[in-house]
Amino acid sequence: MSRRESDRAKMGPIPWTNENFYELAWRARGLAFFERVKEAANGNLCRALGLFNSLNEEYMVALEGIPAAAAKKSGLDPGGGSPRGYLGMNAKLARAPRKAGDRPAEILERVEAVVDKGKIRKTAVTRGYNAFVANWLRDVSGAGFDAIVELGTGYGQNLFEIYCRGGPKTRYIGAEYTASGRELMGKFHALDPAMPLEIVAFDHKAPDLSFLAGAEKVLLFTCHSLEQVERLPERFFDVLAAAAPEVTAIHLKPFGFQIEKKSSASRKQAAFIKKKFYNMNLAKVLRAAEKRGKLAVRMMVLNAINPDESNPTSIAVWDNRRP
Ligand SMILES: C[S@@+](CC[C@H](N)C(=O)[O-])C[C@H]1O[C@@H](n2cnc3c(N)ncnc32)[C@H](O)[C@@H]1O
Repeated sequence: MSRRESDRAKMGPIPWTNENFYELAWRARGLAFFERVKEAANGNLCRALGLFNSLNEEYMVALEGIPAAAAKKSGLDPGGGSPRGYLGMNAKLARAPRKAGDRPAEILERVEAVVDKGKIRKTAVTRGYNAFVANWLRDVSGAGFDAIVELGTGYGQNLFEIYCRGGPKTRYIGAEYTASGRELMGKFHALDPAMPLEIVAFDHKAPDLSFLAGAEKVLLFTCHSLEQVERLPERFFDVLAAAAPEVTAIHLKPFGFQIEKKSSASRKQAAFIKKKFYNMNLAKVLRAAEKRGKLAVRMMVLNAINPDESNPTSIAVWDNRRP
């Protein structure tokens, strides 16, 4: 057994949770791509980010899932696992299959103008998902916030994108669960330390926004991160709404099936979400916080982005002003 193999074996499999999936995924992507893109970008943050993002789109991380029963049978079960079993420590980066719809001409045909005066007016069919989201967040960020916070930010892709696209000179806060995501965000930040970015640990299951003490007007957003938590705490949004005197929040997440339950698309989405142990209660918990007078939901667009795909993204926007 080589030294590398024996080190890996010592670490052993870890419980198969969505959090641990990302712990391994950000680490694998960081190890495989960061130094390469830093060199190719001559240390320029925005160029490095652009190169890193395109590698991320080109390669998928494949992790080895070991179902609980199989782990027990093979004597691999170290105890303390999740009902799903374990994740092996090996991560493979495999080229993502190209879909016919990814051909450049088709991309142009499918992108629709959807943002009007900073608001989403209709649904969007877009392959340029990240750029679409980044431009929208950059526009919204310009409204005089003294902090822009992403909860579950990964390596901070969206925050760096807002900054690189000319976002405001204000506090940026990247709140992330995984140590590997925070570490990678720190490496990107080191390329442009003039960016006023703070990196903090954060868990949606036990939200603590005390890092915002003293802030007055805050933009909070989440992007495909709340779905990683099967059940958000009942008072999740109460905590977010109490984080500062003025809070505006945006959530991009597949929750359409939680509101419109009957269509076959919704039933398919619900089955997919359940299988992945993704979030089942955002809509309920959000509306309950609204009923308690903690916040007002200002906009909800179901299946706002790529409505024809199997797992479309919905958008919810709320603030904590009195209705
Ligand atoms: C699909 S990635 C999205 C990352 C980033 N928001 C983006 O759009 O590029 C999901 C992120 O949610 C994070 N996450 C998973 N469970 C979490 C939890 N309990 N608390 C906070 N973040 C979590 C993952 O570590 C990962 O960084």
